[in-house]
Amino acid sequence: MKAVHVLNGPNLNLLGTREPDIYGKSTLAEIEASLRASCEPRGILLHFRQTNHEGDLVTWIQDAGLAGEPVILNPGAYTHTSVALQDAIKGAGTKVIEVHLSNPHARETFRRHSYVSPVARGVIQGFGALSYDLALQALIAEAGQSEGRRT
Ligand code: DQA
Repeated sequence: MKAVHVLNGPNLNLLGTREPDIYGKSTLAEIEASLRASCEPRGILLHFRQTNHEGDLVTWIQDAGLAGEPVILNPGAYTHTSVALQDAIKGAGTKVIEVHLSNPHARETFRRHSYVSPVARGVIQGFGALSYDLALQALIAEAGQSEGRRT
């Protein structure tokens, strides 16, 4: 695995101060720093982005898929509404691990349905910022990349 894309949807720029009892106190910058610390020794290029716009996510998912690079995706509320994200993942053949800080199944009923899960390689949710690290670990393990060995 040469590169990984970590794509964050709406309102995740507010992490740290947004409903910390649900989403924790880590900022998006802290999540990025933790992932970077795992990627760098393995020679994995990290593309870490956030947007409040659905179309940006569609474009970034398409680009990653067409480049053959995997995505760790927290679609935020678009998880529960976006046919366009599902179509982008299917259309570009993007390998996606869906992540959530909270456990949507333990919350309001409208959060129980995900348009992304049926086309995701896997889903990791409910572990706060650690969800992202676990998703990266899964990709690294599947790519067979132990620390320091560049493949
Ligand atoms: C979220 C869960 C979504 O239901 C919510 O809309 C978010 C964040 C999470 O990471 O827990 O914005 O994706």
